[in-house]
Amino acid sequence: MKTIRFLLNGKEASIEVEDNETLLCALRERLGITSVKEGCGIGECGTCTVLVDDEPHYSCLTLASKANGRDIKTVEYLSSSGVLHPLQEAFIRSGAVQCGYCTPAMLLSAYSLLLRNANPDAHDIKEAISGNLCRCTGYIQIEEAIKNAAEICKCNGQD
Ligand code: FES
Ligand code: FES
Repeated sequence: MKTIRFLLNGKEASIEVEDNETLLCALRERLGITSVKEGCGIGECGTCTVLVDDEPHYSCLTLASKANGRDIKTVEYLSSSGVLHPLQEAFIRSGAVQCGYCTPAMLLSAYSLLLRNANPDAHDIKEAISGNLCRCTGYIQIEEAIKNAAEICKCNGQD
């Protein structure tokens, strides 16, 4: 076991982890962050995506020890001010949430895109969510929601 310290959704966290423990397991089992979903467990579906220093990573393929000293964000970060982020509002409005299993990870990939690119085109959006599978929506509503949220964030001067 080793102790790791990192920022979790903007707050300092410290936990003991096994050498071979995944970040997915540490977040869910040790910290109770069950918004981070396990789908395939082998890096194919993207439901376990979290942001490491604002870049999407598959937490099923990331050792928990690699989180040491890093900035880890899960979907809870997006509404940590107590109100839904424009991306979350746009997903609801567009019908981009159906079963919801892909949604936390999809939102994080979209959020990371908007941090890098405030004015994404359709290609940028498709590329940004290409690592996140959705079995329900056919992606059209998700892409529309991200485009709409980008417009709102630009108007609000918001991340
Ligand atoms: S659980 Fe499918 S990529 Fe991690
Ligand atoms: S909403 Fe069901 S997998 Fe995306």
